[in-house]
Amino acid sequence: MGQRRGATIIGIGSFAPPKVLTNADLEKMVDTTDEWIVTRTGIRERHIVEPGVAASDLAFEASTAALKSASITPDQLDLVICATITGDMPFPATSCLLQDRLGATDVPAFDLQAGCSGWIYSLWTAAQFVMLGTYDHVLVVGVDILSCVTDWNDRSTCVLFGDAAGAVVVGPSDSGVGILSASLGADGSGGDLLKIEAGGSRLPASHETVANRQHYIKMEGREVFKFAVKIMGEASIKALEMCGLKPEEVSLFIPHQANIRIIEAAASRLNLMPEKVFVNVQHYGNTSAASIPVAMDEAYRTGRIKEGDVVVCVGFGAGLTWGASVIKWTMPPA
Ligand code: ACO
Repeated sequence: MGQRRGATIIGIGSFAPPKVLTNADLEKMVDTTDEWIVTRTGIRERHIVEPGVAASDLAFEASTAALKSASITPDQLDLVICATITGDMPFPATSCLLQDRLGATDVPAFDLQAGCSGWIYSLWTAAQFVMLGTYDHVLVVGVDILSCVTDWNDRSTCVLFGDAAGAVVVGPSDSGVGILSASLGADGSGGDLLKIEAGGSRLPASHETVANRQHYIKMEGREVFKFAVKIMGEASIKALEMCGLKPEEVSLFIPHQANIRIIEAAASRLNLMPEKVFVNVQHYGNTSAASIPVAMDEAYRTGRIKEGDVVVCVGFGAGLTWGASVIKWTMPPA
């Protein structure tokens, strides 16, 4: 058998709802200050959906932009993967709703749940199908509307999150360029650190679970912080080693945008200068599965990523899960 083909990103797009919630707005809602939020997290504002707007709505906007950027039409897609923990409803899958809305008739569609690492997991899944020659065009969306599962009375979490969607189209490339590697992992023993307790088969939704606010995100912030700092550096180094690259060869590092202190700690483990680290957490907060593709889209559109660049993306999240991927960028300037 000859060398298998590569897989690369051939189109990218993102979308955030227009409504902006600033730290000053939050000061009026819970006992917090702009100063606390900025120094502890780096976040200044986040985008929040209006009531009634769902994950597939944001995913549709981001996907339409990604398809346009790839210069392909929905009927050319072979598979739709949606990374999300806040789909429109428990089932059917948000990817199926998106597939229908896009008009990608009859192609397979599934959701992938790996918290904030979901998009990296999905990207690598898409890459396998393309490298094997099974499919030519896979749409990979990361979308989350954490504002609908945020306890707006809990100051330790409500200042952190925002809503958005990011999408890419993965297509074939020469081997040796494009999506070169990924290092994925999970540690389910940390599942309790970050969860929504109610609404599943263990604790079905009831008046009691709602009264106890168990349908909202609960997080042990300090523990998640420690885990994130350790794993972001480790996973990135492993993904680089898998394709024979060193941290000094990285052109741009695109970490999950959860907290500026986590990003800085991870970047310092890789010895990266600030100009090699992409940060937009100040404008979006933590948008979960959307965070990395939204950041990547902005980096690409603003000329921070050029053809031939070595891009490393890394995420961590509920599960606990983590994932890092190395991409040798192949798209010409936007
Ligand atoms: N405003 C003011 N004070 C606050 C706020 C707030 N919004 N939130 C917490 N505090 C207080 C606490 O009550 C605490 O007070 P105390 O010392 O009197 O008890 C104090 O500030 C310090 O709290 P810590 O939790 O120690 O603060 P820390 O520096 O750890 O920052 C944070 C908290 C920002 C949550 C941090 O732990 C963090 O970023 N953790 C990681 C979270 C994350 O990235 N999760 C991503 C995964 S999300 C997903 O997968 C869906």
